[in-house]
Amino acid sequence: MDSDQANGRTQGTGRRALLGAAVLGAGGAVLGLPGAAGAAETRTAGPGGRGLKSLPVPTIIGHRGASGYRPEHTFGSYDLALDLGADVVEAGDLVPTKDGHLVCRHEPEIGGTTDVASRPEFAGRKTTKVVDGVSTTGWFTEDFTLAELKTLRAVERIPANRPHNTLYNGRWEIPTFEEVLRWQDEQTRKRGRQVWIYPETKHPTYFRKLGLGLEERVAKLLRKYGKDGRNSPVILQSFEPTSIQRLNRLVDNPLVVLLSSADSRPYDFVEAKDPRTVADLVTPKGLREIAGYAQGIGPTLDLIIPKKADGTLAEPTTLVADAHKVGLVLHPYTMRNENPFLPAEYRKGGAADAYGDVFGAFKRYFATGIDGVFTDNADTGLLARADFLKG
Ligand code: G3P
Ligand code: CA
Repeated sequence: MDSDQANGRTQGTGRRALLGAAVLGAGGAVLGLPGAAGAAETRTAGPGGRGLKSLPVPTIIGHRGASGYRPEHTFGSYDLALDLGADVVEAGDLVPTKDGHLVCRHEPEIGGTTDVASRPEFAGRKTTKVVDGVSTTGWFTEDFTLAELKTLRAVERIPANRPHNTLYNGRWEIPTFEEVLRWQDEQTRKRGRQVWIYPETKHPTYFRKLGLGLEERVAKLLRKYGKDGRNSPVILQSFEPTSIQRLNRLVDNPLVVLLSSADSRPYDFVEAKDPRTVADLVTPKGLREIAGYAQGIGPTLDLIIPKKADGTLAEPTTLVADAHKVGLVLHPYTMRNENPFLPAEYRKGGAADAYGDVFGAFKRYFATGIDGVFTDNADTGLLARADFLKG
């Protein structure tokens, strides 16, 4: 079957057509390199440029690995995301060390995701800094050498929501980006399917001002491992458009601009005294501009379906249609199984560590036509996708 016919984004209007006639394998993904393994169709029509078309739709992205089940940004979390069948693993959010290495942490402050607070040898490193305008107290990756960071161990970020994950506290160290790139190749060989990763430059303006520019370091490592091409299985993302523009000059990988709440301003805009907010970026004009240097956007789910005052879902916005019109894919964030992270009508009871009706929520979001989603629970996302493909 011709891939265009199979995909149907330009051929039909139903959910089945929108998502394509992709045949999902045991891993819940699509066969055909460089896409993930396990199925038979890849998309050649519709939005998304560079290698993005070889991914199944909607793409299930393991957010910080399988962070619903393991401390985030560890090889325990990344391995499990692949075991669960994630199409792409968000490995990782990238921040630098004092000696210029890129490591996988969601933010420079590591008090909440490592055991640094219990290490007397690092007590003197605790400090207060202003990161992107926010005063933050703790321990910062840029104050540690890689060798020092490697002595730390990861812990669960949200034990109140994920008490079981604390079982794994202390088991894994902080990965470097270079280790991730090697891991990607090892896992691709071992699993017989192309493993995709989705690294993010974190606080790029903040780090550049410290003399620790991220993009050149990312590009250098991607080149070293031959992963800087348009079809390389590495999607790059950032909340700062200028970081994506810089990456666009350095490498050919698929690029995604992350978008926070409508009233927020990317921090590079704040620094440049650019008054635009995310609301300006999601207008047809703003999206056209993004499409000039990126292949996709990663909006918060609230930009796809806003919430009412009571926390339930309102009507979808036109963002999916508007982004598709200019050829951008949408990979919104973040689906999580636990009650507090779900729209109010999908919560079950009040327990913060109990799962709500996440399948109901997935159904609503998938129905908007999104191309993928970041989720802490890749297995749940894959089951939800299978339901949706069945129609
Ligand atoms: O990268 C997509 C999503 O991860 C953005 O949110 O804050 O988890 O990095 P964050
Ligand atoms: Ca991220």
